[in-house]
Amino acid sequence: MAGEIITIQVGQCGNQMGKHFWSQLAREHGIGKDGQSLDNSGDARDDDTNPFFKLNEGNRYTPRALMLDLEPSAIQDVQNAFPGFFDPRSMWISPEELGAGNSWSKGYDYGLANQDALLNMIDKEVDATENFEGFQLLHSVAGGTGSGLGSSLLEAISDRFPKKFLTTYSVFPSDESEVVIQPYNTILTLRRLEENSDASVVFDNNALLNLTSRVFRDPYTSYLHTNQLISAAMSAITNSIRFPSYMYNSLPSIFSTLVPTPELHFLVPSFTPFTSDYVTGGKEPKSNTAYDVLLDLFDGSSSLVSSSIDNPTYLNVLCSVIGTTEQNDVLRAIAKAQQRLNFAPWSFSSVHVNVGRQSPYLSDQTRHSYTNGLMLANTTAITSLFTKTCTTFDKIFSKGAFLNTFKDGKMFQNGWDEFVESRQVVEDLTEEYMASEQETYLDGVLLEDENMVDHIDTGFDADGDDNII
Ligand code: GTP
Repeated sequence: MAGEIITIQVGQCGNQMGKHFWSQLAREHGIGKDGQSLDNSGDARDDDTNPFFKLNEGNRYTPRALMLDLEPSAIQDVQNAFPGFFDPRSMWISPEELGAGNSWSKGYDYGLANQDALLNMIDKEVDATENFEGFQLLHSVAGGTGSGLGSSLLEAISDRFPKKFLTTYSVFPSDESEVVIQPYNTILTLRRLEENSDASVVFDNNALLNLTSRVFRDPYTSYLHTNQLISAAMSAITNSIRFPSYMYNSLPSIFSTLVPTPELHFLVPSFTPFTSDYVTGGKEPKSNTAYDVLLDLFDGSSSLVSSSIDNPTYLNVLCSVIGTTEQNDVLRAIAKAQQRLNFAPWSFSSVHVNVGRQSPYLSDQTRHSYTNGLMLANTTAITSLFTKTCTTFDKIFSKGAFLNTFKDGKMFQNGWDEFVESRQVVEDLTEEYMASEQETYLDGVLLEDENMVDHIDTGFDADGDDNII
């Protein structure tokens, strides 16, 4: 059985993403908004609810989730939407209820001041597991709480649970970002993502806002819409854990397929099509095949991260096709991908494809025969986001602008070194991605001890063709 995963939602964005994620998971597992099972058939389940839900007395399912914020509105909104679903003991709102005022430094210091209480909550949640596997942190990198409190939690968790898998779902701000110090918050958070997380799935509000107007055919889209796109991707990433077969049924087995070295762990998600199984009012295609879906994913138009890099280099790619799938369609699409995508010379040019299972509780599957698909790509396309972050950071930092918000922060009592170092980490990361395009990239890396992995539970390549399906 797959191990348990604890979801930690931090700040307005993290808690709103979580609200949609849990709503989607509840639908996919036939669980009502009060946590009661909607399945009265008496048949044995063939999904696995245990990784994400606790089963309590009275057969009530409770999310393995912690909801944290420095002001009450987002958590209250989630509670109002799902009365009785979440465990009230898994919610933490700072007593002052003032938020972090968009300052990473305030969020970070709150995290340090309340670290014992927060780790205590995490320990209690871990105590309720039998085969605990790891964490997923949901947050934005640009506000004060998700970025600052999120950063201090990343440090504390990786210190306390060094052997457990720590993943993040991290939202980057759009170019129309409303807060001038967002580049500061983003740089400081990126350093923690780089140093403390094992895999970070990146979302970018530019790409999300563009996609929402296409998917919902509505020019007036909001976070309500973007968060449904995020939750569709998150649900598809975890599909093989929740509807298990013999492969990709743990966080390490999914992410170690994608992460060649500890630094290069920033992943770009794509998803298509956004049908009503995943978003409100989504359009069903009359029919499609896994071949159509995979090709759509490879062409980049359904990416949830925008990039200015033409023809990026792919290090690794994992796709999941969910729904009606012919193996031949998958093989044809993989062959096309190997021609179309520019893989790093040392990479096996392999597209790993998981054939996922559709939830029996979603739409009537006898009525339709379409496939939904997700792609997670480790690609140099991500460097465009890092470079943009450094450029916007440099513009304000070079003038010493807006630093007042940080001057009381514990991290900044002796000056601004933390900014300089964090920016350097992001620049090094960008250079590491660029270096990964070289044929000899892995030669040096493989000799470093920390990269010697003694056991990786990846899928078995039965036919030895590097295509794992
Ligand atoms: P404080 O408000 O300073 O206490 O921090 P916070 O972490 O709660 O702030 P928030 O999560 O609102 O972060 C701001 C950034 O997240 C901005 O870039 C927003 O555009 C983005 N954001 C906020 N809410 C959402 C959301 O629900 N969905 C998406 N996609 N982005 C969001």
